[in-house]
Amino acid sequence: MRFDIVSLFPEFVAQIAAHGVVGRAGERGLLSLHGWNPRDYAEGNYRRVDDRPFGGGPGMVMMIEPLRAAIRAAREADPAPARVVYLSPQGGRLDQRKVRELAALPRLVLLCGRYEGVDERLLQAEVDEEISIGDYVLSGGELAAAVLVDAVARLQDGALNDAESAVQDSFEGDGLLDCPHYTRPVEHALGAVPGVLLSGNHAEIARWRRQQSLGRTWLRRPDLLDEAALSKSDRALLEA
Ligand code: ADE
Repeated sequence: MRFDIVSLFPEFVAQIAAHGVVGRAGERGLLSLHGWNPRDYAEGNYRRVDDRPFGGGPGMVMMIEPLRAAIRAAREADPAPARVVYLSPQGGRLDQRKVRELAALPRLVLLCGRYEGVDERLLQAEVDEEISIGDYVLSGGELAAAVLVDAVARLQDGALNDAESAVQDSFEGDGLLDCPHYTRPVEHALGAVPGVLLSGNHAEIARWRRQQSLGRTWLRRPDLLDEAALSKSDRALLEA
């Protein structure tokens, strides 16, 4: 999958592609990341990319032309069709379902705004979708783009070492939170590993994990239960 990042600080986002799961996916040829700086497409000695808002008010607005040229250059760098996403607190909220949808695309162009915003005409003409990573305001779209790239990259086939682990994640499959995990030592001053996990009884272990997932979701994120794929026995457990 190909990611094109349109940003005044493309190296910011490129940093995440250098480490961990995303870095490894890059080394395995599963994804590539390319930065496009609108300043490189700006005119004049000052290479201006922003200007004062019409109607007055604080802050600056990113201008149409440098962004349009950068997005066009990104689009033309590869023949595969690109979905252009603008990271903004006004977008639809990113969740694992959206991440899965995006992960199935051949490429994404991610537009990161700075300053007070981006000229609305550019958004209308060039952007396919606006996405927010949560109900809070960041000083730019770069961190949001990094979050999106990470979440989408790890779903690429072959990105994770254990193909199972994406399916087991919180929000994956049945839409519940993940169960707790333990490793050695069995006994520790902070507590012991739950005995069932040492039993070797796979059916019992699966039942315990399911119970933990359901319990955690009920306690921490009851809103997820409305949408979760629950069996009859899950419901019995929850209602007990
Ligand atoms: N840019 C600024 N705040 C943002 C948010 N919450 N999500 C995505 N992009 C943003």
